[in-house]
Amino acid sequence: MADERDKSAASESKRPPVDHGRRGVRGAVFGSFLGVGLAALGAAGGLWTLATSRFLLPNAVTEPPSRFKAGFPGDYLPGHVETRFKDEFGVFVIHGTYRGKSQIYALSPVCTHLGCIVIWQEGEQKFKCPCHGSGFYRDGVNFEGPAPRPLERYAIRIADDGQLEVDRSKQFQEELGQWDDPACYVSV
Ligand code: FES
Repeated sequence: MADERDKSAASESKRPPVDHGRRGVRGAVFGSFLGVGLAALGAAGGLWTLATSRFLLPNAVTEPPSRFKAGFPGDYLPGHVETRFKDEFGVFVIHGTYRGKSQIYALSPVCTHLGCIVIWQEGEQKFKCPCHGSGFYRDGVNFEGPAPRPLERYAIRIADDGQLEVDRSKQFQEELGQWDDPACYVSV
């Protein structure tokens, strides 16, 4: 019996010591991996919620209003092309002439070829399309390049406060005879 106890004590003493410290490190590493995994899962869930709510909530991108005030007729000297409304509202307001009549009118900057935005060239006194070179006179009528027809006009009127009011919801095309409609110009 004593021999057996001695043998078992000897074999116990040959076993390598248990390294509690290494186990602790492994546990900590596993725990941190688990934590990172759960955090990533949470982030993915959050992104998914955001992505789906994008379709459930109304679109927050706002269009500029279709009507805007463009100052008083007296602010526009003969021949003046006002470009400051182009970026915000997509409109040129012009004191020009059409068929010999002095008018203030609002032109769309959208080229009638393929829809690029024309720019006003003060030096050359014309609208020029940067895409394929179409040119338009101050009154919006095309004279060079592939554009097949004039720029379009928007409705314009004198509002109750005496200012010009442009309404982009109504458009007028010269080739259809619509520029004769007094709703698309103010006589000056
Ligand atoms: Fe203007 Fe082609 S889009 S010339």
